Amino acid sequence: MRRRGKTKERIAIFGTGYVGLTMAAFFLKRGHPVICVDVIKDRVTKISNGRSPIYMPGLDEILSDGINTGKLMATSDGLTAARCSRMSFICVGTPSRPDGTIDLRHVRSVSKEIGDGLKGRKDFPVVVMKSTVIPLTCKDIVRPILEKRSKMKAGKGFGLVCNPEFLKEGESLSDSMNPDRIVLGSIDERSSKMVGDLYKGLNAPLILTDLTTAEMIKYAANTFLAAKVGLSNEIANICSAHGVDVYEVMKGVGLDERIGPHFLRAGAGFGGSCFPKDLKALRAAAMKAKVPLRILPSVLEQNEVQPLETVRLLNGALKGLRGRRIALLGLSFKPNTDDVRETRAVPILRALLKQGATVRIFDVNKGAMENFINHVKDLGMTKRIIPCASIEAALKGSDGAIIQTESKEFKALRPKDIKNWMRRPIIIDGRRTLDPHLMARSGIIYRGIGWKNL
Ligand code: UGA
Repeated sequence: MRRRGKTKERIAIFGTGYVGLTMAAFFLKRGHPVICVDVIKDRVTKISNGRSPIYMPGLDEILSDGINTGKLMATSDGLTAARCSRMSFICVGTPSRPDGTIDLRHVRSVSKEIGDGLKGRKDFPVVVMKSTVIPLTCKDIVRPILEKRSKMKAGKGFGLVCNPEFLKEGESLSDSMNPDRIVLGSIDERSSKMVGDLYKGLNAPLILTDLTTAEMIKYAANTFLAAKVGLSNEIANICSAHGVDVYEVMKGVGLDERIGPHFLRAGAGFGGSCFPKDLKALRAAAMKAKVPLRILPSVLEQNEVQPLETVRLLNGALKGLRGRRIALLGLSFKPNTDDVRETRAVPILRALLKQGATVRIFDVNKGAMENFINHVKDLGMTKRIIPCASIEAALKGSDGAIIQTESKEFKALRPKDIKNWMRRPIIIDGRRTLDPHLMARSGIIYRGIGWKNL
């Protein structure tokens, strides 16, 4: 007798940014048929051709394999995608509005589409919120939309689960396979069981809770991590004033099990599409609820001024920046991504230009280079910025350099090359990319925030 394996449920993924594509790859790897939905036609075309619309190492192979085996489809027709999938994952962006509040436009519009796709269904389809949404969004916004459009009751005709992601950009594929925990907030046991089954076999504790607690867990985690980085940065600034090395200090601090060794790397501040946006959204939500805040706003304020420490150190080493040629290495918000959202390279560049320097910019990632050039143009910064095609071109003839991301290509910089290329071998590092002892021995002025000058 032939044994038949259990057919894997089809999953629709709404939104093909970092989160949506990582989830698509995750489910494809676990044997599920996947439909990716996006309103941006170019993204749909790229995915349909087995190519990733964003830079993520390893993703192209998984997508092209999905297309070749017929397991993956991409479309702009969200209604049909929701109709023929057992589960619909909402992975759309939740950007900040200018006042810091969360913009739920995309969440609302895909909820309507999915709601229409639920109408008349007898198979108990489940809607899963993956996007980061402010507490009460699932209960007060998404659920009523789904119920109105589907003409069914949540928990009876369809399931609703909030399953926040804890993926780091650049590491999201491995993060998805090795989570610290899986959080499932839901309105009923049936839907959390169905979503929990999707993660079966992963070695991670399952937290079963309600929708709003799950939403809050995500914000609390990001706030905690951002505050941990911010506090390390503040301690670094104190270390600077006392000639103490913050990396040595944090080694001693991180071994305390109650604190842990992660997210203690002090430097030029945190960027990216999550920490700044999520902290601002939580601050705005707390203000609306009339909850007085003290720590959270300080974390954001400190992060605004922290990158300027690199410029202050460079200014000190060069005794003024007017007319100087400065190389700015690393433009994305962290290595291994083309994402420049909230990158600390922007405030650094702005301060360098303001103080009269000409800035030679470079990133090893071509996408990051392009995105950064467009971004600063949009911000009205055009003069005295010279995009460079290589590290050598950026450093050649420069009076000083600032490293903003710890890319492996910058780590490979040799003292001999630095001294040959630069007019003055002065490097200020917003991370800790190179070996301070090697640099000092080679006669390079190599300084950073919270370091002992060697
Ligand atoms: C962050 C969280 O780490 C993820 O768990 C979460 O899922 C994600 O936000 C999200 O909400 O979607 P991500 O923004 O991709 O992930 O990047 P991180 O690696 O957390 O770095 C954020 C920023 O903090 C970067 O600018 C990084 O350079 C900075 N950072 C991080 C430090 O300055 N020091 C550290 O020790 C760690």
